[in-house]
Amino acid sequence: MADIDLKGRDFLKLLDYTTEEIEYLIDLAADFKAKKKAGISHKFHEGKNVALIFEKTSTRTRCAFEVAAYDLGMGVTYLDPTGSQIGKKETIADTARVLAGMYDGIEYRGFAQTIVEELAKYSKVPVWNGLTNEFHPTQILADMLTIREKLGKLRGVNFVYMGDARYNMGNSLMVGCAKLGLNFTACAPEKYFPDKALIAECEKIAEKTGATLRFESDPMKATKGADVIYTDVWVSMGEPTDVWRERIADLSPYAVTKKIMDNTAEGSIFMHCLPAFHDLGTVIGKEVGEKFGLDSMEVTNEVFESEKSVVFDEAENRMHTIKAVMAATL
Ligand code: CP
Ligand code: NVA
Repeated sequence: MADIDLKGRDFLKLLDYTTEEIEYLIDLAADFKAKKKAGISHKFHEGKNVALIFEKTSTRTRCAFEVAAYDLGMGVTYLDPTGSQIGKKETIADTARVLAGMYDGIEYRGFAQTIVEELAKYSKVPVWNGLTNEFHPTQILADMLTIREKLGKLRGVNFVYMGDARYNMGNSLMVGCAKLGLNFTACAPEKYFPDKALIAECEKIAEKTGATLRFESDPMKATKGADVIYTDVWVSMGEPTDVWRERIADLSPYAVTKKIMDNTAEGSIFMHCLPAFHDLGTVIGKEVGEKFGLDSMEVTNEVFESEKSVVFDEAENRMHTIKAVMAATL
């Protein structure tokens, strides 16, 4: 493994990390995964403690941080969206200084990227981004580890993101692909393409790594010969529910269906950060589905449950990659 030292670093967005540093974290995660499967103890941070701040709900990210922390020998405190003073009675700057006095690392999931950046500015211990409106960097590490496991490589992989590409997942996947040399396509109506300044930044990175970036509104053109089809929910946490109508009207042609998967390369895979609206088995899925006459949203149940779907391996890899981030930066 490359000789890279990330001790003391925050993990706020992939733009802050070099290609080599990101590759190092993926290699380290693969190593931790092998250790875990072989039952080899790796309590490398015994006696340390981490705080997990969640201003939005979570299943995967919270569980991944908790299990990874326990495996590394650490203690954990979980602060839920209602159970702390943050934002209501105490500023982020004050919270950072209080928590940094007790903990060795702080995870933050919440709203604007500026909040996690502010937390990091005032914290003397590493801060890890567990999702903001703009970026979800720990998810991308898990996604890249999964692609490497399933396709055997990252460089040159034809990666297509379908849906709202201007939010946390579309943005972070574009950065991740640019950094690691994948060919990224955002497939959506033009108004859902990522921010122009971020595209320009990624284009500069891509010049060095050999990645390509493409923005295509025709689903059949975009997905022809793709190796990876990736999608996410059409309405993200924290967005008002009244945007559903517009999103469904705009993004329904970009739902991942069997017809889309049949258009991809042989051996292609389907990915989703989860949770997914692939049927009416959830409260929101049922409510929105029945209101708009849909039995699934961003992906059909047929694709979600198909052989091509690697979503649960991807979810497991959240834990191995988050462990690598904590272990490397503490
Ligand atoms: N993918 C993801 O971040 O899932 P959670 O919202 O459950 O953490
Ligand atoms: N875009 C989604 C990602 C969830 C992991 C959201 O922010 O809700």
